Amino acid sequence: MKDRAFAKINLCLDVAGARDDGYHELKMIMVPITFYDVLELQPSREMEMIMDKAYLPADDRNTIIKAIHVMQRRYGFDLNFRCTLQKHIPTRAGLAGGSADAAAAIRMINRLMRLNMSREEMIEVGREVGSDVPFCLINKPALVEGTGEKIQEFECHPDFELLLVKPRKGVSTKECFRLVDSMETDHPDCLKMREALICNDYQGVIDSLGNSLEAPAVQLVSQIKDAKQALLDAGFDGVLMSGSGSTVFGITKDKELVEKTMEQLKGQKYFVRHTNILV
Ligand code: C5P
Repeated sequence: MKDRAFAKINLCLDVAGARDDGYHELKMIMVPITFYDVLELQPSREMEMIMDKAYLPADDRNTIIKAIHVMQRRYGFDLNFRCTLQKHIPTRAGLAGGSADAAAAIRMINRLMRLNMSREEMIEVGREVGSDVPFCLINKPALVEGTGEKIQEFECHPDFELLLVKPRKGVSTKECFRLVDSMETDHPDCLKMREALICNDYQGVIDSLGNSLEAPAVQLVSQIKDAKQALLDAGFDGVLMSGSGSTVFGITKDKELVEKTMEQLKGQKYFVRHTNILV
C-alpha cells in the first residue's frame, strides 16, 4: 500500500507558555501544503527501511519505525513492514516531514490491519510519536492547541501562492523551544488568522502572520533572516518562518514572481519550492 505524506506550514504560531513537563502550550494555525513524501508499506516478517536519502536513521529515531512500534504495542501484533520512502520534504525544516511520514504509516496500518481506529485513537497514537503527528493525521487547515493534540479544522479556500525557501542549515526544535523561554517574543493572534482565512481576506492573512519561534530560531541559524529578506526584497506580500524553522515562506498572488524568484534563489544557498495550501 502507498500513501502520500503531506508537509505543513504554520501561518501563525503562538507559544503561550512553558509547562511543567518541559513542553510548551501552543496556539497555531496549521495548513497542509501540496508538497509530499511517498511511503509504501508492505507486510513482512522483518522490519526493513528502504530510503532514497542516506542521512535518515533506520532505527527507532526514524518516525516511521517509531510509529510502527507504537502501533504494534497498542494493538498487540508482531507483523513487521518493508517500508519504502521517497523523501522530498527536507528535515529540520519546520515542515513536519518526519511527522507526515509517521502519520502516513499509521493511516496505512489502520487500513491494512482493518483496525477501524477512531479519530481519538488516531490522535492518541500520533501524540506518542511526536507533537505534529496528530495534525498530520487529520491533514486539514486547523486551529491547533495544547502541544498539538487539540485540533479544530475549518473550511477555507485560499487563492495565493507559496514559495518555500530553506537555508541549508536546519534548526533543532528542542533547542529552539529551550531558547524561547529566555526571550521576549511575539504573540501573534491566531484567531484573527483563522478568521482571515475563512473570509478569504488576503490582506487579513498577510497582517496576521506571526511566529513566536522565529526570534529564537534566527539566533540559532542567522541565514533565516537572510532568506526572509530575500523574499521581501523580491516583492512578496508576506513572509514568515514555519514551525521552528529553518524554512521560511513567501506569500503572493503573482505566479510569475514565484517563478522568477525561484530561479534567483535556487542553487547552493537555499532549497526552494513552489507550493500551495492543500484544501
Ligand atoms: O514532540 P516532538 O518530539 O516533536 O518535540 C520535539 C521537542 O520540541 C520536544 O522535546 C520539546 O523540547 C519541544 N516541544 C515543546 N513544546 C511543544 C512541542 C515540542 O517544548 N508543544
